[in-house]
Amino acid sequence: MNIENCTALVTGANRGIGAAFVVALLEAGAKHVYAACRDPKADDLEIDANDERITLCTLDVTDESAIGELAASLGDVQLLVNNAGYFAGTTLLQAPDGQAARQEMDVNYFGPLFLSRAFAPQLGANGGGAIVNVLSAAAIVPVPNMGGYSPSKFAARAMGVSLRAELGEQGTQVHNLIVGSIDTRMASHVEGKKESPATVARAGLRAVRKNIPEVDTDDFAVAVRAAQARDPGLQERQMAAMLKMESLNTGR
Ligand SMILES: NC(=O)c1ccc[n+]([C@@H]2O[C@H](COP(=O)([O-])OP(=O)(O)OC[C@H]3O[C@@H](n4cnc5c(N)ncnc54)[C@H](OP(=O)(O)O)[C@@H]3O)[C@@H](O)[C@H]2O)c1
Repeated sequence: MNIENCTALVTGANRGIGAAFVVALLEAGAKHVYAACRDPKADDLEIDANDERITLCTLDVTDESAIGELAASLGDVQLLVNNAGYFAGTTLLQAPDGQAARQEMDVNYFGPLFLSRAFAPQLGANGGGAIVNVLSAAAIVPVPNMGGYSPSKFAARAMGVSLRAELGEQGTQVHNLIVGSIDTRMASHVEGKKESPATVARAGLRAVRKNIPEVDTDDFAVAVRAAQARDPGLQERQMAAMLKMESLNTGR
């Protein structure tokens, strides 16, 4: 798919990787970008609200009827970037109830599913286009200290593969991005090397241009996949040991 002159919709576009996608799309010659975010009036937008190639839209990706209304009000979208994501910062059993895990599934799995369902007809009508799902290394390796986040990204990864098969006939590409460690608010608690949000956006747009189904966007994601391939059992034992250390350190 050509990025040049395309019209794109990016969710969670106000900051982090979503904002980087908006910038990268325009740099690559996209004609127009719908920047969907929960609060387009926020004063900490990381995109230029005055750029006339950008239309800000209000969207909470857990609101299925709002997604339907947005899709009905547009008609020219050719590239959908499912970027909005949520990490509750708790484990499956330490959370007081199931609410955190449910919200992670709502934002990280059902959101992209409802968006893909709502926009698939116009992607097809506009030449096929593409869907980009911003996933995580936690979608290829279960990460116990990330609670319901990892299961939600696993589900979204499987969704991407199924959608690729379902949408193949109408010529819609579907791309799963395996993101490792990126310097955004979501990863503010993470230590060690973090790459820029722009790195992910560039890797994502390259996947679209070259029609690569799944891409590891940064060094951390590459390393996780390599370690998993070498010895999946070792990785699982290391994760469990890490969780034990954290429990000791935090007294949980
Ligand atoms: N940073 C990393 O190291 C890393 C690693 C792997 C994967 N990822 C993935 O990358 C994507 C972008 O995250 P980020 O790193 O850029 O983190 P971020 O800066 O925290 O951005 C998260 C974005 O998701 C939006 N969002 C959360 N819940 C939403 C909802 N219900 N409806 C609409 N938007 C919602 C946030 O909007 P508000 O501003 O309104 O909260 C924000 O725009 C996510 O899918 C995340 O899982 C990130």
